Amino acid sequence: MRRLRFLTGGESHGPRLTAIVEGLPAGLELDRTGIDGWLKRRQHGFGRGGRQRIETDIVEVTGGLRNGRTMGGPLVLELENQDWKNWSEVMDPWATDQEQAQNRAVTRPRPGHADYSGGAATDQLEDMRNVLERASARETGARVMAGAVCARLLARYGIVLRSAVLQLGPHVVTEGPPTWEDLAAVDFDSPLVTPRPDREEALVEAVRAARTDGDTMGGVVGGVVRGLPPGLGSHTHWDRKLDGLIVHALVSIHSVKAAAIGAGIEVAGRLGSQAHDAIHVADGRLRRDSNRAGGLEGGVTNGEDLVARAYFKPISTLRKGLPSVDLTTGETGATAWERSDVTAIGAAPVIVESMLALVLADELLVKLGGDAIVDTDTAWEALCKRLEPWWRPRA
Ligand SMILES: Cc1cc2nc3c(=O)[nH]c(=O)nc-3n(C[C@H](O)[C@H](O)[C@H](O)COP(=O)(O)O)c2cc1C
Repeated sequence: MRRLRFLTGGESHGPRLTAIVEGLPAGLELDRTGIDGWLKRRQHGFGRGGRQRIETDIVEVTGGLRNGRTMGGPLVLELENQDWKNWSEVMDPWATDQEQAQNRAVTRPRPGHADYSGGAATDQLEDMRNVLERASARETGARVMAGAVCARLLARYGIVLRSAVLQLGPHVVTEGPPTWEDLAAVDFDSPLVTPRPDREEALVEAVRAARTDGDTMGGVVGGVVRGLPPGLGSHTHWDRKLDGLIVHALVSIHSVKAAAIGAGIEVAGRLGSQAHDAIHVADGRLRRDSNRAGGLEGGVTNGEDLVARAYFKPISTLRKGLPSVDLTTGETGATAWERSDVTAIGAAPVIVESMLALVLADELLVKLGGDAIVDTDTAWEALCKRLEPWWRPRA
């Protein structure tokens, strides 16, 4: 990220999670209920574990905001862990209770988690608790707070996001890359947040069956962003190409093992005549009949909807356990099960939206600049004028 800086801190069972967003123009109006609404979406989804019943995620702003407007300094967003009270002796920053900490020690690395790899990296293989605590997807709460703020900035310029679950395990709800219209029917309160609430009963049954078997599920989430002007990103440097930045941001989400732009996966198997988006003019503007490129050509937005998909592996902690080795004794055995999700796919759309919003807000500010929001507004108007007649913002 070049204009915005974004950092998260905190552990799964520590006192709180923090997100710091630096680089927002001063004077941007924020909306607390908007951020809390996004946090609520992250706690949602059929198949979640007991943790979500303990937590009620609400944003607390401890820096960079006054009277609902950004002040120009780092914006500090915090989120309390209600579960901290059950872990304070194990997780105390200064003096842990040795016996309790020993009882909670993680000595058998769980396959699919950062336990072994992170323990090897940080010389913490005797007890991988510290790795688990930081690698936990509880951190996505911090990302969502920051993402909601970035979405607010984008919305100021008519740039809006939608997302949904497209597939749960092997159960496909929507084939191929989603369109903006496909995602219109998403009900964020439905059990699995798909564009087809009428099909969710069968999906709920599939989650129940996995739970009964002590197993877990992943899936595919789609995100679409509408209203982006052409010209965000760069065709000139590998590390500034927007497709690369988006894929990086999506794959950085816990459990995401692949990401695709537009029909990126499908077009690999097609002829060129079936892979691209012909350009023509209608009402004096450039138009496409299709959007296989997913709004990006050469690593730069082309004015069409930006379409991305993220592929989530099944949750790594299985109630029936997976074979592993105790690193203190060398004994083999199944991994232990701590309260865990059967699937977290219902929470994933808002996390995908958050990462898209973070990357796109950064790119927009790289383009527009502005220490004050009024300067950013002026630059936006100038950009829209320059892009005429081929592109105009949506009314
Ligand atoms: C919203 C969300 C919730 C998750 N909840 C759990 C969970 O309850 N139990 C678990 O074992 N993994 C859970 N995961 C997945 C792990 O965090 C993830 O597999 C682990 O950190 C290793 O990272 P990697 O899969 O990206 O390599 C969750 C992921 C997400 C996105």
